[in-house]
Order: sequence, then structure tokens, then C-alpha cells
Amino acid sequence: MKNYQSMDHFWMPFTANRAFKESPRIIERAEGMWLFNDEGRQILDATAGLWCVNAGHGRKQIADAVAAQIQTLDYTSPFNLGHDIGFEFAERLVKHSPQGLDRVFFSCSGSEAVESALKIALAYQNARGKGGKYRFIGREKGYHGVNFGGISVGGLTPNRKGFGPLLPVDHLPHTLDVERNAFSKGLPEFGIERAEALENLLQFHGSDSIAAVIVEPVSGAGGVVLPPVGYLKKLREICTRHDVLLIFDEVICGWGRLGDSFGANRFDVQPDMITSAKGITNGVLPLGAVFVRNEIYDTVLNAAPEGQVEFFHGYTYSAHPVACAAGLAALDIYESEGLLERGAGEIGQYWEEALHSLKGLPGIVDVRNFGLIGAVQFAAADGSLVGPTIMKRCYELGMSIRAVGDIIALSPPLIIEKSHIDQIVDIFTQISKEMFRG
Ligand SMILES: Cc1ncc(COP(=O)(O)O)c(C=O)c1O
Repeated sequence: MKNYQSMDHFWMPFTANRAFKESPRIIERAEGMWLFNDEGRQILDATAGLWCVNAGHGRKQIADAVAAQIQTLDYTSPFNLGHDIGFEFAERLVKHSPQGLDRVFFSCSGSEAVESALKIALAYQNARGKGGKYRFIGREKGYHGVNFGGISVGGLTPNRKGFGPLLPVDHLPHTLDVERNAFSKGLPEFGIERAEALENLLQFHGSDSIAAVIVEPVSGAGGVVLPPVGYLKKLREICTRHDVLLIFDEVICGWGRLGDSFGANRFDVQPDMITSAKGITNGVLPLGAVFVRNEIYDTVLNAAPEGQVEFFHGYTYSAHPVACAAGLAALDIYESEGLLERGAGEIGQYWEEALHSLKGLPGIVDVRNFGLIGAVQFAAADGSLVGPTIMKRCYELGMSIRAVGDIIALSPPLIIEKSHIDQIVDIFTQISKEMFRG
């Protein structure tokens, strides 16, 4: 039921407001793999919301934990006061992070986790007497949220353009190479040499001016761009050799998306920090976190005079008790249902085979996958943009996806079953034939 007269008052984020408000898509409720819209239709959520509802929608265990927490302790300041649930959540979380990255700084979103990580990197370099290391290196097509630090290191032009002078940042080349790697199953074979570009950037700027490199192990919002075999290990090796921190932005990659708690674990590459959000609470409440290497924490703390604040940074809602309750309940579900590993097992294999069965259909120029993330890339013969039309058609056919240009990004809830995967493939098959045949 509509309790509003006009849609004008809500300025919607990252949305073509005028087009949307002319033909809105309104979701009224959600359960498991499904969204239910205001016409009573059932829509398969093939993106887990915005890559976040990893345990599926409407989990009662999380709702109960949230309700109980509000009635016990709804809020208290995280500055100079503590609450048990914040410490408990941090302790539980680090059972999943790579060994030695077991200090957690909480934020309220992925964007804020990124800002926090960049500031921790600068605080660390200052604390060890290397304040000249103030630049960052990001990567083309990288998405690190929308705040000024995040758009500076980010590599998506529309998100940066028009926002004035940003932080001193340079960018690695992206690793999307459809010409050489089209229809790769899992990690693409070609492109490790693109990690060598880091050597050049470090020489160009002088590594004594670089605080940190930040990349997503798999770029999500940039169009599901996978790291070529050996690429991430190479980045790690170069960063270590040049005394530069390596930050993995795992806001999407974390919490089972790649078949493990973190991409760092799955790829066996140890960064110095990991940013996380989204699936950390199953998307139910906003919360972000930075997992920090212990030595970074110790260095920053020990550089400050005894009894004084060591790091001048934090949020009103850092470690919000209700968000922590949601996160703990989400972790219970992930662990008890074995969801974090599913993408590396039988269902991940089925996902790969099913998506790749689209190869050869008209209009489809690439399919890529890893864990339970995937992309189907289309191209029209006349070069026109087809992604937005495909997104609308998918919705009409009962599926919610994300279009990045002509790349259709997929990141379903980790509870997905074979029948849902078959439905995804059927819809793409139909669209390919409708839009691209002849
Ligand atoms: C890799 C990555 N980093 C950061 C963010 C920003 O997170 P949020 O939208 O919670 O601020 C996102 C969001 O999609 C993301 O994909």
C-alpha cells in the first residue's frame, strides 16, 4: 500500500531518477532467493541485493537477534565507552580473517571502511617515521565507495569526474582482457604482466612516497573483473619488496562470495589490511570493518603518548550494537550452514558449467565466473549500449540483475540451488535470442 503522494522527495542514489520514477520497480517484501514486487510478482534476486544478502532474505535468526539487542542495549557511544557485543563480534570475525590480521576497526559502510583503511595506512606510515609516504595506488575499474578517498583510489570515470581535485593517487591498469581471456572458467590465464605496471608506478613516483596499494581481489562494480593467474601474488611480492602496504577491498569479495570467508584466503595472498561490509551483516544493517595487520595496530598505538587517543578517527555508529547483533547472527548462519565454502564446492561447479553453457549464443561475447560471482557480457553489432535494456527485460522475465555497461553482473545469495541457476540461464538464453538473433 502506498502512503505517499509523490516520488519527488526521495533523491535516489546511483539511479536515473527521472526514468525510474516514470516506470518504477517497487519491491514490497523478500524471502530467501526471492523479491516480491508491488504487482505481486516473484523476482529471482540474482545479485543478493547489492552483492550483500549472502544468506538470503528474511532470516528470522537475524531479525530475532536485532530485536533482542534493541531491547537490551540499543545504542551507546563507542568513544571511551564499550559494549560486550562489539568485542564479541570483533573476536568472532577474526576467526575468519587471514592469520595476523586480527585487529578490527569498525565503520558503518564499505565506503567508510575504505576511508578508514586509507587513513590507517597514513597513520601507520607517520607512526614509523615515514610520513613522506602519502600517495596511494588504485586500479582502473576499481570501485572503493563514494567518499573522497574512495573515489580518488577508485578507477571508474563517472564516479570521479567533476568532483574536483582528489587525493594524490595513480592507477594500475585493469585486468579485463576479453580478447585474450574470453570464456575463461575461473581465473583467466593471461595478464599477470599487468602487475608489473606496479614496478613502473613505484619507480615513477618513488616508492618512498607511496603509502599503500588498494585493489579488489575481484572487481565487482567495475564489471566482475577477475585477477589473472598469479597476478595478486605478484602485487604482494612487489609491495613487500618496496615497503608499501597492500589493501584488499573485500566489500564484495568477502563472506563467501569467492568460496571462502575472504578472497585473501581463497587466493592464498596475505594483504596488510582487508576492508569489509555488505555480507558482514547479511546486508540487514549497515556496518563496515577494516581488518588490520597486528603490527600496524601496535605501531600506531605505541607511537602515541600513554593515555592519549592514538588514532583521531571513528564514527558515531562504529560497532553499533544492533548492527553487531545482526552480524553475529549472520556469522552463526554462515558457519552452521556452511555457506562460506559453497562457492568452492559442487554448487560453484554447477554455476560455472551453467553460465558457460551460454557460450555461442548471439550477442554474448564473454562469460566469466569464480566462486558464486559471475558476468555475462553482451555486445550489440552496432555498438549501442544494451545493458539497461537487458536489465529491464530481466526484471520483466522475473529476475533482478545488475548492468555495468553491457556487462551483466551476477552475485546470487549463497543459498542458491541448481533450479535457480537453471532459471538464470534460461532467461539469458531467451533474451539473447529475442534481442540479438538475425
Ligand atoms: C569493493 C567495494 N568497496 C566499497 C564499496 C562501498 O560500500 P558502501 O556502498 O557500503 O559504502 C563497495 C560497494 O559496492 C564495493 O563494492
